Amino acid sequence: MYTLQRANKYIEDTRTQVIKDYRHDYHVMAPVGWINDPNGFIYYEGEYHLFYQYYPYKSVWGPMHWGHSKSKDLVNWESAPVALAPDQWYDKDGCFSGTTIEKDGKIYAMYTGHIEGEKPEDIRQVQCIAVSEDGNHFEKVAQNPVLDEDDLPDNAMPQDFRDPKVIQRGEIYYSLIASKFKDGGGQILLYKSSDLLKWEYVSVLLKGEKEEGYMWECPDLFELDGKDVLIISIDGLPTEGNKFSNTHSVLSIIGKMDWEKGIFHREVCEELDYGLDFYAPQTIMDAKQRRVMVSWMQMWGRNIPTDTLEHGWAGAMTLPRELSIKNNSMYQNPVNEISSYFTNHKVKHNIILIDETKEFADISTEVGVLSLEVNTQGSKRFDIEIRGNDGEKTSLTYDNESGSFILDRKQSGIKIIGKEPEALQQRYVHVKPVNHILKLDIYMDRASVEVFINEGEHTMTSTIYPTKTARKVTLRAKGKVEVLQMERHDIE
Ligand code: FRU
Repeated sequence: MYTLQRANKYIEDTRTQVIKDYRHDYHVMAPVGWINDPNGFIYYEGEYHLFYQYYPYKSVWGPMHWGHSKSKDLVNWESAPVALAPDQWYDKDGCFSGTTIEKDGKIYAMYTGHIEGEKPEDIRQVQCIAVSEDGNHFEKVAQNPVLDEDDLPDNAMPQDFRDPKVIQRGEIYYSLIASKFKDGGGQILLYKSSDLLKWEYVSVLLKGEKEEGYMWECPDLFELDGKDVLIISIDGLPTEGNKFSNTHSVLSIIGKMDWEKGIFHREVCEELDYGLDFYAPQTIMDAKQRRVMVSWMQMWGRNIPTDTLEHGWAGAMTLPRELSIKNNSMYQNPVNEISSYFTNHKVKHNIILIDETKEFADISTEVGVLSLEVNTQGSKRFDIEIRGNDGEKTSLTYDNESGSFILDRKQSGIKIIGKEPEALQQRYVHVKPVNHILKLDIYMDRASVEVFINEGEHTMTSTIYPTKTARKVTLRAKGKVEVLQMERHDIE
């Protein structure tokens, strides 16, 4: 039997046994055990609360709890007691993903109760509410489940009905819930409520085509810079050229929400991150009126070195990123609080490399940010190798002939193998330098790299696990490469 008390005691008893090697400095992790999706992200009474899908007892997925981390500045996080355990008949096999919203000074969490039976067809997913008066302790309400299979439209499967995102418009609360339709494919259902307890079905907000993946998960909907944006995480979206190369992909769809009809009209659809490890993001509007997003920095279906090496934990969140729309395209940048975290700076100007390789020992680092501004005119290609040692490196390459930017973790350290072909340890994104200038901000933590390209026009997020100290920074140029500025920010 899973209870909060058991989970919290287990964490207290075992947290000091977790092996520290790959523990991040500034990314959210669980104290011990497994995490996946961010849940219930909220700014409440002066603090950011980030909950997450959590199995404390092993560094693999198991019956889901909601873990909890808190922060005043989105950079320094402190771990709080577990918020939800699967301890009721309606969530006995997992308190799956969901969101929170503030009402009358309290936090309401809406999450999915996962109930298994003897056969896969017996699975039921229902929606539940838990209320907190202090942001830490949650009471599940007597009305649970507040939505179950009787509330589904005809074509929806009761086995896949999950991940409610609650939003408020005036006096009405809406919930977007991911669903699978009967002949196979994803859709987002819309429900409404005036008190967060009694819900009624409104519409199919968006239905996927057959070739758009077999299940949609973790929807999010918000207004940003005059547009409506729908974010969905998709299981099984077919690869298209260099896009959607992971088994699970995240789409950001800019469009128009018709609230009268409860229908979302798509305009521009983009992959949200082009790296290897990014899934199930969730956003909030914070007190500074920013749209801030956090995502799980991992991918389903691959080995996770901290699990296989028995380090006692697995999974982390991305840096919180501020979203904005420019030229109908989604931009992401790290929240600016991160800049005060890195107190140590080193700047270099005007480095010209012609068909040569150069190591920059004075800006080497393991944890920090490398920012580069490169004039690509006249270059054929160049590589920035980071997290290097003798034998290992993570390569970031700009190929001027094809316009591709490539992240390659083949030689990063411990091998990560998943369902994708091994060659797919590389990820590509097409970039367009403005007046030949390419800007890169590369955020490194103990086991991760997040690349922000051209002031956030594209991002690439990946985990990496060097086997020993890896701090070398090396540039390799083919043709003439002019680095106008290269900067390192860290804490060392
Ligand atoms: C997405 C997801 C969600 C589900 C949760 C279970 O990564 O599959 O759809 O609620 O993880 O942990």
